[in-house]
Amino acid sequence: MFKILERETLAEHINKFVVEAPLIAKKALPGQFVILRLHEKGERIPITICETDPEKGTITLVVQEVGKTTYELGTYQAGDEIADIIGPLGKPAEIEKVGTVVAIGGGVGTAIVYPEAKAFKEKGNYVISIIGFRSKRFVILEEEMRKVSDELYVTTDDGSYGMKGFVSDKLKELIEEGRKIDLVIAIGPAIMMKVVSDLTRPYGIKTIVSLNSIMVDGTGMCGACRVEVGGKTRFACVDGPEFDGHQVDFDLLIKRLAMYKEEERIALERYLKERGKA
Ligand SMILES: Cc1cc2nc3c(=O)[nH]c(=O)nc-3n(C[C@H](O)[C@H](O)[C@H](O)COP(=O)(O)OP(=O)(O)OC[C@H]3O[C@@H](n4cnc5c(N)ncnc54)[C@H](O)[C@@H]3O)c2cc1C
Ligand code: FES
Repeated sequence: MFKILERETLAEHINKFVVEAPLIAKKALPGQFVILRLHEKGERIPITICETDPEKGTITLVVQEVGKTTYELGTYQAGDEIADIIGPLGKPAEIEKVGTVVAIGGGVGTAIVYPEAKAFKEKGNYVISIIGFRSKRFVILEEEMRKVSDELYVTTDDGSYGMKGFVSDKLKELIEEGRKIDLVIAIGPAIMMKVVSDLTRPYGIKTIVSLNSIMVDGTGMCGACRVEVGGKTRFACVDGPEFDGHQVDFDLLIKRLAMYKEEERIALERYLKERGKA
């Protein structure tokens, strides 16, 4: 059992959990994730390790409520326990000194790009961060991102905070201003990563994305997370989750992510109904 030591609501439907997991905290590197199961009857879901504290033996997870399991986790409080957490899984991000790195986070993707922006900054890179949200009430980790960035830009789709528009609009502005960019890391919804990769491709700017494909075992055995990268089938859980954005078949990824939409809708509806009754 893995005890939740702290729980905080960061924004509407986005919660942060500090969980006791000393072995994972000791080994985890930026870019890696865990697979958790809330209880014996729960499904397994992958969540990125946002922060670790090896001395305290804790890991921090930031989770957006999008379906049954994440809504259920949203009801967990400090003192509650998560039945299983396995990890760290996936390949760690390649953190090198390259010059100027643009770290892009879309929505909850901000929590995933945060440890990488921090690691790139610690390596001596100039870090420009762009974080984007639907609206002001969904903004998360702004101060944390500011601390690890040389420049920080916030965008909102509706213009209620920061620059009105998408993260890709700000990136386009930087490119058109002639800013020297050596590497882009883009993490967020698949469509955002696709748009960013399409934008940087003609400029030859190396672009790394973190693929959020559906995962079950997380160890390369089940094939659920398969993606196509450079015309080859790869398993996001063991070959990734990070890949060269210019090589990813995003249309296939988006299609596969929508495969269980109806089942997911029914499961969430049933869960919320039962919770309402309780
Ligand atoms: C490597 C990786 C890291 C991730 N890190 C984070 C994170 O740090 N914070 C966060 O909020 N979310 C993260 N996600 C997404 C998270 O796993 C899904 O939001 C979660 O599984 C949804 O489960 P659900 O039962 O609440 O929703 P469901 O109703 O079951 O599904 C809603 C949507 O979530 C996605 N999803 C569902 N099941 C899975 C699954 N087993 N694996 C992957 N995606 C699934 C699908 O796109 C689906 O349409 C990550 C995904 C991956 C692959
Ligand atoms: S999640 Fe099963 S092979 Fe990747």
